[in-house]
Formats: sequence, C-alpha cells, structure tokens
Amino acid sequence: MERILKAAILGMGNMGRGHASSMMKMEGVKLSALCSEPIGDARRFAEEEHLECQIFDDFDQMLEEAQIDVLYICLPPFAHNGQFEKAAKRGIHIFIEKPIALTLKRGRAMAEAAEKNKIVTQVGYQMRFGVAVKKFKEYIADGTAGRMTLYMANYECNSLHGPWWRDAKRCGGQVFEQVIHLYDMSLYLMGKASAVNGYVANLCHKQVEGYTVEDTSVSNIRFKNGALGSVCGSNCSVKNQWNARFRVICENMTAEFEDQNHAVFTFTGEEEIRVEEIAADADCTYEEDRYFIRTVLGEEKPMADIREGYEGLKLVSAVVSSSEKEGSTVRVE
Ligand SMILES: NC(=O)c1ccc[n+]([C@@H]2O[C@H](COP(=O)([O-])OP(=O)(O)OC[C@H]3O[C@@H](n4cnc5c(N)ncnc54)[C@H](O)[C@@H]3O)[C@@H](O)[C@H]2O)c1
Repeated sequence: MERILKAAILGMGNMGRGHASSMMKMEGVKLSALCSEPIGDARRFAEEEHLECQIFDDFDQMLEEAQIDVLYICLPPFAHNGQFEKAAKRGIHIFIEKPIALTLKRGRAMAEAAEKNKIVTQVGYQMRFGVAVKKFKEYIADGTAGRMTLYMANYECNSLHGPWWRDAKRCGGQVFEQVIHLYDMSLYLMGKASAVNGYVANLCHKQVEGYTVEDTSVSNIRFKNGALGSVCGSNCSVKNQWNARFRVICENMTAEFEDQNHAVFTFTGEEEIRVEEIAADADCTYEEDRYFIRTVLGEEKPMADIREGYEGLKLVSAVVSSSEKEGSTVRVE
C-alpha cells in the first residue's frame, strides 16, 4: 500500500502558504496540521482552501497532539528557538526555510540534532531546482565544463519588505535573508569556500524608520579548489523587480544565468564556439517540495540538507564579520 506522509507547517506567512499549496497538489503526503502565532494566518489558509486539518498557535502543543511525519519550518529568522531540535528528537523529518538561523551556534545545534536523530532534512534553496541549474550541474559532473574558475553574482531589488525584514536584529540583513540564495549557489556550483572578504552598508535607507539592515553588499570569495567568486547585493535597484543573476566561467564553457530556469551556455573548449540556450518555467517551490517528500520516501538522495544550510550560514556570517573588520579576510572553517 502507498505510504501517505502526514505533513505539518510551522509559520503560515508567504512561504508557509506556498509550501502548503505544494502539499495539497502532491501525492504521497497529506497536510494534517498548521501552526502560526498569531493563529489567524493558519486559520485563514485552512478556511480559504477548505482544508480539514488541526490548527495550532502553540508549537509544543502541535508536537504533542498531531501525528507528524514531516515538518515545514517557515518562520522568520528571529523566531527559531529550538523547534527544529524538538521535532528532530521525535524523528520528524524537517524542511526549513533559509536562513536556518541568525547565529552559527543555533545553526550548528540544528545540524547536530538532525545527524544525531538521523532525520531527512532540506533547506529552502529553491534556486537549485531550476532547469538551467540542473543542466549546468550535469555539465560539471560529466566533465564538459572543465575546471571551475570564476563565479559572479548579483542580487537586486528595491522593496521595504515587512517590519521584521527591515530590523537587523530580527532578520539578520539582506545578505542573510536574500543574497544567501546566491551564496548557496556559489557553494553548490563551485564547492566549499575557504576565505571571504566583504563590505555591507546602508546607503539609501538611513531615513526610513526601523530600517537597520544593509541595502548594499559586496564580497570576494576564495573556494577550496582555488576558484574565485564575487557576490553583490542591493536593495536600491529597480522597484518591483527581484533579480538573482549569476555567471560562471569554467575552463570549457561560460554559463550566464538570468535566473535558475534561464541560461545561455557558451562552449569555449571546442573547435568552434557553440551556444545552448535554456528557457524553462519550472515552479521551483513545488519542485523542491516534491524532492523533499521523495527523499523522505527513500526515492531521492538528500539535497541541500541542514549541514549544507549551515555551510551557507557560515559563508554569509563570514561576509558580515569581514565587513565589521573593515573588509579584512575571514577564513571559512
Ligand atoms: N526560499 C525562498 O525563496 C524564500 C522566499 C521568501 C521568504 N523565505 C524565508 O521564509 C521564512 C519566512 O518568511 P515569510 O516571508 O513566509 O514570512 P512571513 O512574515 O510572511 O510569515 C511568517 C509566519 O510565521 C508566523 N510566526 C512568526 N513567529 C512565530 C512563532 N514564534 N510561532 C509560530 N508562528 C510564528 C507568522 O504568524 C507568519 O504566519 C524566512 O526565513 C524567509 O527568509 C524564503
């Protein structure tokens, strides 16, 4: 008989709703409990979707009273306070949105809890599930790309976002919250980082009340395999646009990504230069959710697990701590 996983979601804002919608379309999983504090977000979703499930505003109570095989943690960064470890202790498999934490100590505790309790984990790095990114990974794996040399990435938007996002203490900053997608992509494509220097600055939003995060950032990365990288972020760019573009130069090909689904690959290691264009419209939130459920069911290998989430956290923490030391080099241990 087909196994049906019981799924619960903690945090029913933008991302909680997105993952809940995926669950409702997917086979092999049933959405059985929602939790948000205040409870209104969870209630509203269940009513709008005519969903029959348990609704909570207390995470501990949900753990006690609901049957849960997989948990989605979709909280703002400041609200993580041990929910991951409590669920891991019960053997519940966990999908968690990025950034997994605001401090390395919290992130490390999560990774250790997952490993100790042998649970399946996945972090919300949905860009990894784009069609163009998947194709490029194949070219790296089969040797077509050749040696990885240079990663260049830009995250740009112009939005005030919500109150917790603008507050450095609650959100961590744009590097932690958004540009982290491109830092994760650098680790996914280029391999582990060894050293970083960076600067972050608030240049356009000093007059905005409560806006204490940076709106401009830049970093240089050295990877363990000798490759180099550079990542920039801005919240002073074009309004109503969210762009996460990156370009990778390898020994035998140059890959230019407009986003995770759109890229132009120029093969430079052949006698004549050849170009391949990829244009797809994969719903990467749905794809990452399906992948996670399939991993829990034993049909896929873990991808973007909590240990990789912790590596991403180490990298963005290194950028910010380099900036605090006037851009001096910070080793990523
Ligand atoms: N992967 C992506 O592309 C992507 C995109 C946007 C946001 N995110 C991440 O998802 C996370 C959530 O972001 P969002 O935009 O959904 O936030 P949001 O503010 O829209 O929603 C947060 C939800 O959490 C609930 N909540 C807050 N504290 C709580 C607590 N202590 N207990 C229970 N519920 C609590 C709120 O009531 C709300 O329902 C953030 O870490 C963010 O970085 C990821």
